[in-house]
Amino acid sequence: MTSSLWQNANSQLRDLVSYEPGKPIEDLARELGLAPGDIVKLASNENPLGPSPKAVAAMRESLERANFYPDGGGYYLREAVAARHGLARENVILGNGSNEIIEFLGHAFLRPGDEVVTSAHAFAVYPLMAQLFGAKTVLVPERPGFVQDLDATLAAITPRTRQVFIASPNNPTGTIVSPAAIEQFMARVPAHVVVAFDEAYYEFLDPADAPDTVRYVLEGRNVIVMRTFSKIQGLANLRIGYGLGPAELIDILGKTRQPFNANGIAQAGALASLGDTEHQARTKAVTDEGRAFLQKNFAALGREFVPSHANFVLVHVGSGRAVFEALLRRGIIIRAMDSYGLPEWVRVSVGTMEQNRRCVEALRKVLGAAPDIESR
Ligand SMILES: Cc1ncc(COP(=O)(O)O)c(C=O)c1O
Repeated sequence: MTSSLWQNANSQLRDLVSYEPGKPIEDLARELGLAPGDIVKLASNENPLGPSPKAVAAMRESLERANFYPDGGGYYLREAVAARHGLARENVILGNGSNEIIEFLGHAFLRPGDEVVTSAHAFAVYPLMAQLFGAKTVLVPERPGFVQDLDATLAAITPRTRQVFIASPNNPTGTIVSPAAIEQFMARVPAHVVVAFDEAYYEFLDPADAPDTVRYVLEGRNVIVMRTFSKIQGLANLRIGYGLGPAELIDILGKTRQPFNANGIAQAGALASLGDTEHQARTKAVTDEGRAFLQKNFAALGREFVPSHANFVLVHVGSGRAVFEALLRRGIIIRAMDSYGLPEWVRVSVGTMEQNRRCVEALRKVLGAAPDIESR
């Protein structure tokens, strides 16, 4: 940190802790001397069924054109996304994952000393991006049960606040804010703030829990609705997501975008995937069944868990790091939550039923065998 290179680097980078992703299957397979196929990864909220076969076929075909730069304007995918939401292409921006939309927001609106408001255990990329631009993240305490408190969120807004993040369902808690709470919030939020609705897990919601945030885009409110192809669509490796917003906001964000941020293979896969409603329905059914199974078994193990609306469950295990490591030794990758300030918890993504069973079986052994892991 004292080298001359660090002296020249932007000061906000010194304390920046890089995002810690789920451990890759290949890493653990190498460490344990196992075949990658023997590893169960329930660490990154991925689709255990894989991508839509229609997406795979479209991507294969588009590989033949890998020598050409992609359509940087993303015409066909933006058209299709817009049509799906009753919007125009001018209301849609593509991102290299929805993470990139969060970065666009930072480029466009954050200066040193600005503030970003979100919930205490919100997605780690919000504070990370804020810090990258020298802004401060205000973490608002939750309601009981890890639910984002939108009244307290409103109260935390100051003239320096540029962005508010509302993730529903939120990662890593799996909790939602109700459509009614969102409506009340939107009736009172000051116009100088961009409200970012992070809906990465929206498609896992039951219809009664799904807020109509696209309505605010149609009304020209200062909002961006972020969705991704990484979760229910099973295209996490491709890095493609999108933001929906009023044309002026999309125009501003577009200025910050690299010319070819969304590659053509991803665009082709996403476009085909969007139309494969059967694959999405099957994924939701597998998720609903697997989540119920995990929650039932966590309860049977006497473990507190947060009832989830997404494809993962946060569960209290005593020492999250110890349980994470013990499961690794059994070929199972989950996520320790210490980086979220939840050292006693782990997050388990919903897999296939076979993967869920393997995970629960291993967890049962680990929790029974580790005397240092206390029960609550
Ligand atoms: C709440 C939330 N938002 C955004 C993302 C980013 O997804 P991606 O960049 O893959 O679209 C994730 C990924 O885990 C997430 O959990």
